[in-house]
Amino acid sequence: MSTFLRATDIPTHGARTLPGSWYTSPVTYALELDRIFHRRWLCACRASDVAQRGDYVVRTVGTESVVITRDHEGAPRAFHNVCRHRGTRLCEATQGHFDSGIQCPYHAWTYALDGSLIGAPHMSGTDGFDKRDWPLHPIAIAAWEGWLFINFDREPEPFTSAFAPLISRFERFRLPTLMPARRIEYDVRANWKLIHQNYSECYHCSPVHPALVRLTPTNSGENDLYEGPFLGGFMVITQPGGSMSMSGRACGLPVGDLPGEDMQRVYYYSIFPNMLLSLHPDYVMAHTVWPQSPHRTHITCEWLFNPASFAEPSFDANDAIAFWDMTNAQDWHVCELSQLGVSSAAYTPGPYSARESLSVAFDNEVRRSVAD
Ligand code: FES
Ligand SMILES: [Fe+2]
Repeated sequence: MSTFLRATDIPTHGARTLPGSWYTSPVTYALELDRIFHRRWLCACRASDVAQRGDYVVRTVGTESVVITRDHEGAPRAFHNVCRHRGTRLCEATQGHFDSGIQCPYHAWTYALDGSLIGAPHMSGTDGFDKRDWPLHPIAIAAWEGWLFINFDREPEPFTSAFAPLISRFERFRLPTLMPARRIEYDVRANWKLIHQNYSECYHCSPVHPALVRLTPTNSGENDLYEGPFLGGFMVITQPGGSMSMSGRACGLPVGDLPGEDMQRVYYYSIFPNMLLSLHPDYVMAHTVWPQSPHRTHITCEWLFNPASFAEPSFDANDAIAFWDMTNAQDWHVCELSQLGVSSAAYTPGPYSARESLSVAFDNEVRRSVAD
């Protein structure tokens, strides 16, 4: 059983916000890429984004880029987006389909969907060359709840151990069965940590999200994960049959086998370092967070529904999508204002409130990870 605590009951020990250099310094940013984004499990895409053999998506963080595809046996595979000949980046598009293997645009070396090198023009005269010695470098990949996660580390912590607190936590939401209605991409001029810190507290909800606070009281939050890489809990949806939407009503069928209390809750979890998972009675929203520089972050946001909802005449995915697209924009705006402020010479770390205890826990996880 989970123990739920109010944000204000989780100690912050007088924590202050991070120093300005953590949001601006290329040195700190490089350290975060090396110790966090190139070592931890990252949510890359839905398994359905590579539904057919040969479908692919590309994800890039800092210097590292990964091609995720599905091989001839139907297994998801991930490879460094780096040709074994002279290192050229293989795929430029962020998604597509390989008709006849993965071909390098430079000298046309070609790799099968399992990464093996199957074509290397005019290499037969090269001493000691054997195609079997030059497969693509694999990247660890794991499936969880309908998403594919990748890890750039050569010897990553096994996914099942890293994600142990989450493994069967959300089964009642039937996440692998849910179907996407829409994905929106955002380019935010703010450091990736500001996005997480913002997601982790509702202290800002009254001034920033007037529509949201009409649906969920800001002080209704209780958290069952409040230390370590996974943080979050729920807020109460006041209206019976309500949800987070423009109309305030649920816009689709329940997503899973939800007990009555879950029909009046929205659960928010930040999944370190790049996923924000928001579970509503009638849909699930998932953000992925991709740092581009110390002061820029690319964010994807996807809305997933019970597949049976799509056949309902009253189904209106846009009721939920428009609500969160508006709320996202409000959040990104204050994050961008924060980025401007913390970049100033006048900024010094400020005192976190008791309501921001999960933002403090997030900062602690960053500090621990970078100090490793
Ligand atoms: S660099 Fe890829 S084939 Fe030459
Ligand atoms: Fe917000």
